[in-house]
Amino acid sequence: MKPITAVSVSILALAVALLVDRGAGLRPRVEIPQAAPASPTPASSAPQAATTRGGTLAKGTIPRSLPPDASHQDTVDTLPPGKGQEETFYMCAACHGTALIKQQGMSRELWEASFQLMIDRHGMAKPDDADRALIIDYLAENFPPRRKGRGGDNPFLK
Ligand code: HEC
Repeated sequence: MKPITAVSVSILALAVALLVDRGAGLRPRVEIPQAAPASPTPASSAPQAATTRGGTLAKGTIPRSLPPDASHQDTVDTLPPGKGQEETFYMCAACHGTALIKQQGMSRELWEASFQLMIDRHGMAKPDDADRALIIDYLAENFPPRRKGRGGDNPFLK
């Protein structure tokens, strides 16, 4: 057998073996690392000391300042002025900057869901119903779904 034929035969044999090898016994096992469990943004910026984490806040206990280790430099006026601006800022910017919020354009329902996600997944403190409504109203009013033709809509969803 010429070397070239031998090589072809080997490749063919290997291909057949791999095809037949349904149980994957011949293939090396590659351990796929499991995604790390969702943890709040960079550990360093996750304010462990934030008094707002977990639990339920009594009325009026939305913090008036950010935890000392909030890594962003955002201030209240990075959110547009309006009713609920301050409450929204101190509630939401405890963990991340306001850009993450401003880049969204959502209906009230979706803001509500996003708010709940912050509580359920990220451990945001639960404000009372009045503060919750105030903040969700603010978000829905200031960051509504973007209108078509202004660059915010997804051309693939038309
Ligand atoms: C307890 C910490 C915490 C608080 C408080 C918090 N968030 Fe978040 N938020 C997160 C984390 C963690 C992420 C994921 C960040 C990332 O992917 O970089 C996130 C992501 C987001 C996103 C991006 C989309 C998404 O779902 O990942 C939006 C929008 C958002 N937050 C809105 C808010 C709003 C509005 C508030 C205030 C009502 C708020 N967040 C308060 C932790 C928090």
